Amino acid sequence: MRKRILAGMALLGSAALVVSGCSSGSDSGSASGDTITVGFAQTGSESGWRSANTESMKAAFSTDNGFDLVFNAADNDPAAQIAAVRSFINQGVDAIVIAPIVEDGWDDVLTEAKDAGIPVVLEDRTVTASEDLYATWVGLDFKLEGEKAGEWAAQTFTEPTKMVVLEGTTGSAPANDRAEGFDAAIAGTPIEKIDSQTGDFTRDGGKSVMEGFLQKYGVDGIDLVYAHNDDMALGAIEAIEAAGATPGEDIKIVSIDAVHDGMQALVDGKINYIVECNPLLGDKAADLVKKVLAGDAVDKRTIVEDQAFDQAAAEEALPDRKY
Ligand code: AHR
Repeated sequence: MRKRILAGMALLGSAALVVSGCSSGSDSGSASGDTITVGFAQTGSESGWRSANTESMKAAFSTDNGFDLVFNAADNDPAAQIAAVRSFINQGVDAIVIAPIVEDGWDDVLTEAKDAGIPVVLEDRTVTASEDLYATWVGLDFKLEGEKAGEWAAQTFTEPTKMVVLEGTTGSAPANDRAEGFDAAIAGTPIEKIDSQTGDFTRDGGKSVMEGFLQKYGVDGIDLVYAHNDDMALGAIEAIEAAGATPGEDIKIVSIDAVHDGMQALVDGKINYIVECNPLLGDKAADLVKKVLAGDAVDKRTIVEDQAFDQAAAEEALPDRKY
């Protein structure tokens, strides 16, 4: 494990040279002693997007790339995720990477990491805590994703339209921002949001919430589903088919992610439009960790651009899709 003091220096941007102060954690065992120990606090394994993100992170934070990765997936439990970060601090890792499940509640543990001289890099989701408490963030513009989905809906539905929403994890940045962006884009259109509930970004959650909507409003009472991710849209497809209706025709669906299964459903006509959310953030996150530990200046925010797909674009893109 690298000298803890280097992390502290990088955080403070200090030019002072201090060479003592080994962390109490064990060395990761590299012959050169240059291995960087990184604790990564992942949200869980709720979706196809998450699996692709975990794979990308593990590939980037590999031994070959000079890392010793301590991985934790918190099963979408914010308290468990904070406990994992605290454990990384106690282990004396060189840097911590977090994909925060929810936006709020991070001030205390981020302050503890800062006091311990361990830089924190956020990936994927954001937090409401002060920017001083973390080194940098790499992720997606969730609000813009919601806006793009809403713009498609606003252009597609020019007659009175009943819409239900499958929300992501309550309190998460993508659920908050995708709702905000979409609502702004459909303001003043004939689209009426008749119901909105969380499906927790999971296929099962999307299916059971959609079953409830279908029981309450009937197939004829719903024209459009806005799902905050593909997995919930895929669950909704199952519920719509079980109710004897045709997803993509009787009930249109717009979702976010563009993972392989979602794109296949778009090609098959079961989903009507998908806005991408790129999960391949590993290389950028690893690069940021190295730069922060080296004391290099980094941007506070790195936003990875997303595309959007209709059926024809999905057909063209699917064969080369990496996730
Ligand atoms: O934070 C990104 C979101 O988290 C993805 O859209 C969703 O699929 C995942 O679980």
